Amino acid sequence: MIIRYPQELLAAVKKATRGRQLAGFTPGQGPRHPELMLIGEAPGRHEERVNIPFSGASGQELMRLVESIGYSRQTVYITSVVRQRPYAVKVVQNKKTGQQVEKTPNRTPTKGEVRAFAPLFDWELHFVDPQILVPLGNTALQRLLGSKANIGKMHGQLIESPIQEADPDSNGYRWATKRYRIFPMYHPAAILYVRRLEPVVQADWQRLGKYLKENH
Ligand code: URA
Repeated sequence: MIIRYPQELLAAVKKATRGRQLAGFTPGQGPRHPELMLIGEAPGRHEERVNIPFSGASGQELMRLVESIGYSRQTVYITSVVRQRPYAVKVVQNKKTGQQVEKTPNRTPTKGEVRAFAPLFDWELHFVDPQILVPLGNTALQRLLGSKANIGKMHGQLIESPIQEADPDSNGYRWATKRYRIFPMYHPAAILYVRRLEPVVQADWQRLGKYLKENH
């Protein structure tokens, strides 16, 4: 299922992100009421082009990990805390021709951008109603558990906690009352950049697989 977000929330996000360097719009995807909701940071260039979350290089790593515990793209819900591709604008010189060319590489979303998309994410979470949240990397983890949360310390273990939701009064966050089961994982791109993390990430996913077998 490709999710359809409420028009009024989309309009509010559009207003809150006006003028920012954000491209495309990649919706979340997957079944309602799944065991797992995988939560990334933001779409990259590939996702912007094909409109499918985690369909590029990080997505391939992620799917290998998901499949290693007996799940598939069809059985998990996949989303991110920001729905558009954050990009930077860089002018670089083409080495061969000497010409100046403009590049728009991916970048990490700012805290303001994550907050601008927060009402959309909150709505999606309630609508999808997953059993376990799997934030992938610090951006997603901190969106749920606040800026002191750290993936290096919290990866690969079950945490039961309330999560943050958008607070319209302060334009920041407040703690929701419901407690969630959260299983933080390194972002799959971490494996691509830091190869020595691969066995750590694989072991984390095996731990999640074992937890799911024992508890479902
Ligand atoms: N990184 C993310 O966080 N999400 C994607 O969809 C792709 C890369």
